Amino acid sequence: MNAGSGELRVFESAAQMARRAASEFSRRAIESVASRGWFRVALAGGSTPRRLYALLASTLEPFRDQVPWAKAQFFWGDERTVPPSNPESNYRMANEVMLSKVPVPAEHIHRILAELPDPPMAARRYEEELRRVFELDPASKPRFDLVILGMGVEGHTASLFPGSEWIHENTRLVVAAWVEKLNAFRITLTPAVFNQAACVMFLISGEEKAEALKQALEGPRRPELLPIQAIRPVDGSLQWLVDRAAASKLSH
Ligand code: 6PG
Repeated sequence: MNAGSGELRVFESAAQMARRAASEFSRRAIESVASRGWFRVALAGGSTPRRLYALLASTLEPFRDQVPWAKAQFFWGDERTVPPSNPESNYRMANEVMLSKVPVPAEHIHRILAELPDPPMAARRYEEELRRVFELDPASKPRFDLVILGMGVEGHTASLFPGSEWIHENTRLVVAAWVEKLNAFRITLTPAVFNQAACVMFLISGEEKAEALKQALEGPRRPELLPIQAIRPVDGSLQWLVDRAAASKLSH
């Protein structure tokens, strides 16, 4: 692993990876509330985090009773430009699997209004929400206690895709990113936010991610081609939680 890329943990299965992620989520939530009064987290979309969210909400697991839900503020790292009822919505997945099943106050769930007809307007609205909740002055950036991110097969993370103009964005917090391969806008937080986090936790599972993971951890640093390499917290921890299938091409 190249030095600046954090701590790698390989798990036998996606289920074991999710369990470790749930334990880490719970531990950080408790610690954040105890020391700062709040736990502010940015959730990932896609399918991989589904297991984690289900574990956190399950009445058959210890995590639900551990997490201080009343003091947790939920954001998303990115969102598809679809209504919240759409099966593609990252909000819908997290809400169905977790948020609708735990005692988090509705006003602590900060959905990206990605269905707005003007994606740049949606991005501005979300940036305003971030600044309001984090009580930021104009020059400051939000420091999440935890950011959960995934990785696409070609090395994208959140909605920072290869070739994106926002890979090195260090001022704007939220942008409307045009994604050529999807022929669609996505609303995404930028590295300016992700790299301020106290902890970034990547959850990566499956054989189809093995090549991109090998390039990200063992190849040259080329964030324009592998946007996940743009995520390096300036003063925080970076954790790669991967299953054995995703790690199958790593040298070590
Ligand atoms: C999204 C996510 C995206 C995701 C990766 C991996 O909106 O889809 O933000 O960055 O984390 O595409 O997705 P899977 O977990 O479904 O493989």
